[in-house]
Amino acid sequence: MNLPQHLTIRDDHLWIGEHDTIDLARTWGTPLYVTDQDRIAASYTAWRDALSAEYSRVRILYAAKANGNLAVLRILAGLGAGADVFSSGELHLALSAGMQPGTLLFNGSSKSRSDLALAVEKGVPVSVDSLDELRQLDTAAAAAGKIARIAFRVNPAVDVPTHPKIATGLATSKFGIAHHLIPSAYQEALACSHVEPVGIHCHIGSQILAVEPFARACEVMMRIVGEIARMGVRLEFVDLGGGLGIPYHRGEGETSPTPSDYARAVVPLFRDGIREAGISPELWIEPGRSLVADSSILLTGVNSIKPAHRNFVNVDAGFNLLIRPAMYDSWHEIIAANKAGKAGTTMYTIAGPICETGDILAHDRMLPELSAGDLIAVLDTGAYGFAMSSQYNSRPRCPEVLLNGSEAALMRRGEDVGDLTRTMEIPPWQESGD
Ligand code: LLP
Repeated sequence: MNLPQHLTIRDDHLWIGEHDTIDLARTWGTPLYVTDQDRIAASYTAWRDALSAEYSRVRILYAAKANGNLAVLRILAGLGAGADVFSSGELHLALSAGMQPGTLLFNGSSKSRSDLALAVEKGVPVSVDSLDELRQLDTAAAAAGKIARIAFRVNPAVDVPTHPKIATGLATSKFGIAHHLIPSAYQEALACSHVEPVGIHCHIGSQILAVEPFARACEVMMRIVGEIARMGVRLEFVDLGGGLGIPYHRGEGETSPTPSDYARAVVPLFRDGIREAGISPELWIEPGRSLVADSSILLTGVNSIKPAHRNFVNVDAGFNLLIRPAMYDSWHEIIAANKAGKAGTTMYTIAGPICETGDILAHDRMLPELSAGDLIAVLDTGAYGFAMSSQYNSRPRCPEVLLNGSEAALMRRGEDVGDLTRTMEIPPWQESGD
């Protein structure tokens, strides 16, 4: 299997960084998310170096939705990243992590008035998704006596080879303003008293394993950039979004384009566009998955084995902790962490503990003979893993551990049953009268 550098197999055990997964599971129990800090740093550096080799004024905005743990945000903030924030909550987290307001972009197709007011108050640029939102933001900024710095989210109508639920730049998707209507949107923004258009933004989708769609989107964007620059818009940044995929199918030797492949395919088009427009804005990109997905594994313990229609391995993590397989039929590699050096001899289906037939983490995988008490590692769970978890079936969420060289520490404690009821209230009419 084509394992990332920080995952190794030693004496039949799967190791992550300098840690034996068996020891980690013994210390913190299962299920358990484990994240390698160095891996995140290496991925960030690869992006930064690849883009900087092609253009000097680059900013990487980490897509905080991929993994919103404060410790993860702090790693990236420390390396100089800003963030794509998609809610007031993500905005708060990014600021708490030490990111500067001007290095964030408040994205989203459905922002509330309080979202807009918060962006104005904190001085965070807003990616405006509709003319209605533009007008509301102008009003909010006027009320606060401030100028809101904005970009428009362009819908470039680019088809992308990915799961339809995560293709975001199709003409039919809910995101952005159709590319041919964008110049008139800037015209209106220029006429607003409390809005200043300073950027332009797009994002075409996620888990994209080719660079061509990004290049096509960039071409659409640069045509608009030329047009709006001529209209007098002074662009400080062009944000081309995130979306580069990772090779989840490691067993088949799948590969993904590297940040360098991306930079070589996309940045020259950006450079040509800005040269023709006679401007030199910053180039922003918003990677999420490619920064954090492969940094984490989900460790889950085997509760029982049930030979039936399929050979079921019943584990203690299900779609409450990792919804991607159930939601997008996503593939995550599975390793028997305490038998990692043994050959696969038996076909197993890894089933979670949730009361739904769709609660399957992986179908029909060849693994060594398993029994209760074994440890399973689910790979590449650092993006949209814990971030999309729930307490469904009243299961407290598991802890998350962060590794830094030989150190290991909680970056989120596990929930307990008390956390299940912590936000619940007993309505007064249910209180006993005595
Ligand atoms: N920027 C914007 C505006 C986005 O909507 C997204 C992701 C990103 C950046 C980061 O994209 P990335 O580099 O991570 O592909 N839950 C799905 C993925 C949803 C992605 C939504 N938008 C999954 O588990 O595959």
